[in-house]
Amino acid sequence: MLSLRNICKTFNMTGAKEDERVALDHINLDIEPGEFVTIIGGNGSGKSTTLNVVAGSITPDSGDILLNGESILKLKEYQRASYFGRVFQDPMMGTSGDMSVLENLEIAYRRGRVHSPFVWGFKKENKEDFIRELKRFDLGLEDRLNQKVGVMSGGQRQALTLLMATMRNKPTHKMVRRDYIKFSEKDKSLAAKEFDDVYEPAKKEYKEKCKVIKSDKNLTFEQKKQQIADIYDEFDKKVRQFDLTKQILLLDEHTAALDPKTAKKVLELTDKIVKENQMTTLMVTHNMKDALTYGNRLIMFNQGHIVLDVKGEEKKKLTVEDLLKKFDVQI
Ligand SMILES: Nc1ncnc2c1ncn2[C@@H]1O[C@H](COP(=O)(O)OP(=O)(O)O)[C@@H](O)[C@H]1O
Ligand SMILES: [Mg+2]
Repeated sequence: MLSLRNICKTFNMTGAKEDERVALDHINLDIEPGEFVTIIGGNGSGKSTTLNVVAGSITPDSGDILLNGESILKLKEYQRASYFGRVFQDPMMGTSGDMSVLENLEIAYRRGRVHSPFVWGFKKENKEDFIRELKRFDLGLEDRLNQKVGVMSGGQRQALTLLMATMRNKPTHKMVRRDYIKFSEKDKSLAAKEFDDVYEPAKKEYKEKCKVIKSDKNLTFEQKKQQIADIYDEFDKKVRQFDLTKQILLLDEHTAALDPKTAKKVLELTDKIVKENQMTTLMVTHNMKDALTYGNRLIMFNQGHIVLDVKGEEKKKLTVEDLLKKFDVQI
């Protein structure tokens, strides 16, 4: 769970009192694992500042930020990067223009977390998985692996950034264990035992099944590869139940600079990735319809305050008119 406790932030450009800008005024917010929160609010209402405070690019004046009960306030932005994936409005920001698609992904992969057969290792066989993944984007990226990102459309760059943001958040099993022990509210040795009691037998089972598949003379090499990948997935899933720090995605108007058709594609892709990976997500959007269509919780900011917070069924019933009314009252 991600918690913001009494977060305050005032900007002061010149030092003069009249130039002070209260960006966040005692923000309290608890976000449950797997929640997909859409965030709306007028210009300057504090949406971006909130994401920046969470990611560590802005230090709040007061308050605390907890990840699964532990304060992360003292962690620097780069130290928090393994817990958060970010996509900004500007397609130029997430990717490196003079590098190819593959090089960009390789950097994300290296910056991310070390080796696991599940993460693309840029070996030949992994590259195939990777092309398959890019094809799902339906933006023609798979044919442009070696092309410089700088010549690509904003939509292609945002899709790539999105993929990179989610790649970074796949910790190795060892890291899942470490963070489970660190962030679990349980007693440390109990948490370790709980993890090991699932991990050790699962690993043993995986290895044994591998052996059986490898020695099966009725299977082709391709079939063996597929079956091993499937049982690895099964094993991996068991381990990732313990991934407390998994995948918090911070999206700040990431489709605002795209044409409507591409924006829709990137949004749908976002939704798919979030759902498949059950990623906890905060998505800022200026589009009320998108804020209603996507996600399972909606938050509205106004002048550094949260003025609306609706979840589940209640959110489903909301209409654009409701939101506009709320906006009117606030502004
Ligand atoms: N780096 C900054 N320096 C000075 N003022 C800032 C800075 N970032 C944000 N602000 C101010 O803080 C308030 C909230 O900004 P922001 O969080 O960017 O709003 P939003 O994303 O909702 O449009 C605004 O009044 C804005 O002008
Ligand atoms: Mg903003």
